[in-house]
Amino acid sequence: MLTSKTENIHTSEGETAPLWTVYEDSFDPTLKKLHSQETVYTIGNGYFCTRGTFEEGYPRADTATLLYGVFDQVPIAKEELANIPDWTEIKLFVNDERFRLDRGTILDYHRSLDLTQGLLSRSVSWESPNGVRISINSQRFASLADEHVGIIRFSITVDSTPDDQPAEILIRSSFNTAQGNYNLMHVETVDQAHTDDLLWLHTETKRSLVQLAQTMSFTSDRTDFRKEILDSDISPSIRLYGSLKPGESLTTEKVVVMYTSRDGTDDVIRTALEHHRALLSADNVSQSYNGQFLFESLLTTQREAWAHFWQEADILVEGDDKAQVGLRYSLYQLRINTSSHDTRYSIAAKGLTGFGYRGHVFHDTEIFMLPFFTYVLPDIARNLLLYRYHLLPAARKKAASNGYEGAQYPWESTLSGDETTPPSIIHPETGELIPVLNGFIELHITSSIAHATWEYWRVSGDDDFLQEYGAEVLLSTAQYWASRVEKNPERTEYEITNVIGPDEWHEHVNNNAYTNYMARNNIQCALQALDWLKTNSPTKARQLVQQLNLTDERLAYWQDIIEHIRIPQNPETGLFEQFEGFFDLPKLDQSKFEGRKDSYQGILGVEVVQRYQIVKQADVLMLLTVLEREFDLKTKEVNWDYYYPITDHAYGSSLTPALHVILASQLGRTADVVKLFLAGALVDLENLRGNTPEGVHAACAGAVWQAAILGIAGLRVDEHGYTTNPHWPDGWKRLAFSFKHKGEAIHVDLHR
Ligand code: BGC
Repeated sequence: MLTSKTENIHTSEGETAPLWTVYEDSFDPTLKKLHSQETVYTIGNGYFCTRGTFEEGYPRADTATLLYGVFDQVPIAKEELANIPDWTEIKLFVNDERFRLDRGTILDYHRSLDLTQGLLSRSVSWESPNGVRISINSQRFASLADEHVGIIRFSITVDSTPDDQPAEILIRSSFNTAQGNYNLMHVETVDQAHTDDLLWLHTETKRSLVQLAQTMSFTSDRTDFRKEILDSDISPSIRLYGSLKPGESLTTEKVVVMYTSRDGTDDVIRTALEHHRALLSADNVSQSYNGQFLFESLLTTQREAWAHFWQEADILVEGDDKAQVGLRYSLYQLRINTSSHDTRYSIAAKGLTGFGYRGHVFHDTEIFMLPFFTYVLPDIARNLLLYRYHLLPAARKKAASNGYEGAQYPWESTLSGDETTPPSIIHPETGELIPVLNGFIELHITSSIAHATWEYWRVSGDDDFLQEYGAEVLLSTAQYWASRVEKNPERTEYEITNVIGPDEWHEHVNNNAYTNYMARNNIQCALQALDWLKTNSPTKARQLVQQLNLTDERLAYWQDIIEHIRIPQNPETGLFEQFEGFFDLPKLDQSKFEGRKDSYQGILGVEVVQRYQIVKQADVLMLLTVLEREFDLKTKEVNWDYYYPITDHAYGSSLTPALHVILASQLGRTADVVKLFLAGALVDLENLRGNTPEGVHAACAGAVWQAAILGIAGLRVDEHGYTTNPHWPDGWKRLAFSFKHKGEAIHVDLHR
């Protein structure tokens, strides 16, 4: 699984900032590689992300720009983030020959993503089929300082022509509406026109009717090039044409502004045009905007915005360059896929970088990514939790529709908070309809949200949040568990039967240790929150007690559940049984599958894999990680030794290798630490799972932060302050990072 390849990681010496750069210096046209690199080179700012497809296009490219929270309905999976018209398209014709990398000859090729400023650059030397040699340089970014703005600088130099004559150049910058999510089109044109030099396109999503405005200016540094605006409902464009002698260059700049009706504006076109005009009339841009571009001034604010982010979020690793770049790339992903202010949506499993999981939000956010935000960008953590708070009514409806009280969160969530897990999926190869049970019985998402809420309060000290929002989430989710548990009369214990735990390869299981323990923790935190409210905000406490009907009798019942919920664990050894009956299953002889290229579930099938002790992803081990303060080293060790070897690290879920670093570090499994860390940090840079084309593994990015800080640095905070307890993996010499504890910014610099 782990390779020693250095693709995408620029570690060559002599560069200004090599450990901040993701880099490739050759073009591999195989489709899988093309698509995975499109994901890797995504730019974004939390309002939108744009995949790293080429401006000039490439056959079968998965071009996409996805906007935070802009969905459209689909059959079965309910709704998905809608791919909007491509704003990056710039087609180039040289002596009537189209520049494209599948034609002519590539003489030289470089692409890099500079993480310090979120800047994607590409340089290509190309010879056309008829022998004209040109060099192309393009740079683009999604402005982090002004989230509605995307910009591309695209330059062409004619290096030589066969007859030494000037080359005729036509360059056409468009919005291309012919974009879908794979085969499904979501957007259609409402109107299109131009005013002066500004071209605009008004589209809307077909079913959800989100209005989208895109405006474009396209300028060049040459007055001898002519300009035409071509109105079109499909591909409105601005084109420039003229000729370049060998040795001459043309630099163009495409500025795009985007607004949607989700931005709270009635007239999206007017708003976008005003925004665009304001950019162009800024002091540092000449009115004619020939000869002077916006690029440099926008890049300055872009740099500042990213510098601000890195000042708070960067983690310095000395001694392992791959880990360093992979870690920074993970932090970059966490940032570009998250809005800095929108509380109506959260981070999808693939963020805004691809179509995988359709933009749905899972426990990936609360368990894997939230810790990064809680410790580093608490304002964003708060927003992400407010998203869940706002969706309490839907969670209450879900609980009620299943016959329970309180709030039950959906396994997959989008804007409404309704369950959006598809009830079945079509097998990509066989076409067979496979039932998906997760939306019905994978319940632990509810306690994940409660846990993240509690942790946010514990680390940030945001009492206002707990009082106004968090306590209600904690109490409502506890109420759900209290009605969901079943009393087993024979055992006098409470049970939770018929669930799927984090290890999704075992369905319909009873008393999954993770689910039960986390449910208990949820109820405990709710009771503690209520106690806190009674002391610190008695009015709010009374209001919630009344609103949720939390009688003394009910609260006593909650306490009884805490004391008597079944937790399948051997009291002598500390070993958990993942669920009841797990130990009765035979262990899978993994040696028979050496050299496999698929997960055990893929090989054995959904039914057969259930009959073995083989685990998709951390389940018991996730419990010991998420609630790690509750367990001693001996318990961690005995469970690690049992479960680590029976987990499908290579082809199970991508989520947990990096998370495993926390336990591996504590247990001194140094060899495992480096391997597991890189399995997370390089998951997309090296397409380790083969599915990077569908988008980045955002949970993995969050787990990588946890691995470095909660694992390797051993950071722990409590009401008295913080401690670190570094566990140095091979090669690592220094680890420096920042975090916030109860509003105080803390910088830690650990040396081996
Ligand atoms: C994992 C889940 C995860 C989902 C989305 C699944 O394969 O088993 O834990 O939430 O992917 O990333």
